[in-house]
Parts: sequence; structure tokens; C-alpha cells
Amino acid sequence: MHTVIVYESMYGNTRQVAQAIAEGVREAAPDAQVDCLTVSEATADATRSADLLVVGGPTHMHGMSSGLSRRLAHGTQAQKSARESGALAATAEPDESPGLRAWFHGLPDTESGTHAAAFDTRADFRLSGGAAEGIARRLSHHHYDVLAEPEGFIVEDTEGPLRAGELDRARTWGAGLL
Ligand SMILES: Cc1cc2nc3c(=O)[nH]c(=O)nc-3n(C[C@H](O)[C@H](O)[C@H](O)COP(=O)(O)O)c2cc1C
Repeated sequence: MHTVIVYESMYGNTRQVAQAIAEGVREAAPDAQVDCLTVSEATADATRSADLLVVGGPTHMHGMSSGLSRRLAHGTQAQKSARESGALAATAEPDESPGLRAWFHGLPDTESGTHAAAFDTRADFRLSGGAAEGIARRLSHHHYDVLAEPEGFIVEDTEGPLRAGELDRARTWGAGLL
């Protein structure tokens, strides 16, 4: 049993959720091989042998991140670092790392109907939307068999932290995928 968890994360919250999902999978199947990879690490080779592919990212502008939303997020981060370091102005470098949308362009179709699941992190406000639905749709387009409802995990603010209890919920959700 080989599970691959792929995530995108600007501030680290989705990474924490991905790692908690990995722990849940390991608890449910101690013999399973579980790889928890960023979109940069998750090459076509790294996902090819998966029996279960779990993909997650942050919710930006009600859906999956885009080039624009990632630049905005990167700018916010740069301004925060500048504030913390006492600099007068933030100089945001363009974010060249790939987001989930670009990653999906390079994902080969699965020929064996591999199981898959989608998750996101999102704020808790009315009409917050979610990235997980778009992720699940893309997995289906690549012929993955999406076996769970897309799931959202709540952050208290744009940069986090995650709401208390969400990592436990992620662990349980991960275990439940098996
Ligand atoms: C540009 C931008 C747009 C966002 N838009 C939304 C949104 O529409 N709905 C929402 O629930 N959260 C929104 N958020 C908050 C993100 O969901 C939050 O930053 C993310 O879950 C944190 O995950 P990360 O630490 O893995 O990046 C937005 C954040 C950014 C930076």
C-alpha cells in the first residue's frame, strides 16, 4: 500500500494538515509507505506507484490558488517579514514555485483508477468557498477514483493558526481514507 500526499502551502497550515493526514494513514496502516510531498517534490514518477493519492492546498479567492493569489500571498508574507525586521518597505520577490494548478498540468492520467481524495485549508466565513472541490474535479479528470467528499480544514486567519482540533480531525480523516 503506497499513499502519496501532495500539498501546496504558503504559510505552513496546509503542510501541517498534510502531515497530520500522513500520520493518520500510518496509524491505520502501519505497513503502508506514506510520502508527504510538496508540489515541487511530487514529480510524475513520485506519484505513479501510488495506490492512494491525496491532494490539498489553501483556498484562495474561493477556490484553488492562482498565479495572482499566490503573488498576493507572497506580498503579504514579505510585508510581514519586513515589519518584523524593521525594514521600511517590503520587496516581494515573485514566487516562482509551482502551484497546484500548474502541478495538475503535469500530472499524467492514471490508467488503473487509483483512489484519491482532496482537501484544503480555508477560513470560516460565509461564502468562503474552498479549493478541495476544484482539486477533486481535476483528480477525476485525470481518471482518479475520488473516494471521499472533499474536506476543508479551518484556519483562524489568513496566515493561520489552524483552529484547535483541526489537526486531530485531519489525522482521523486520513485514517478514514483507508
Ligand atoms: C490571496 C488570498 C486569498 C484568500 N482567499 C480566501 C477565500 O476566498 N476563502 C477562504 O476561506 N480563505 C481565503 N484565504 C485564506 C487562506 O485560506 C489561508 O491563507 C490558507 O488556508 C492558509 O494555508 P497555508 O498556510 O497552507 O497557505 C485567502 C488567502 C490569501 C493569501
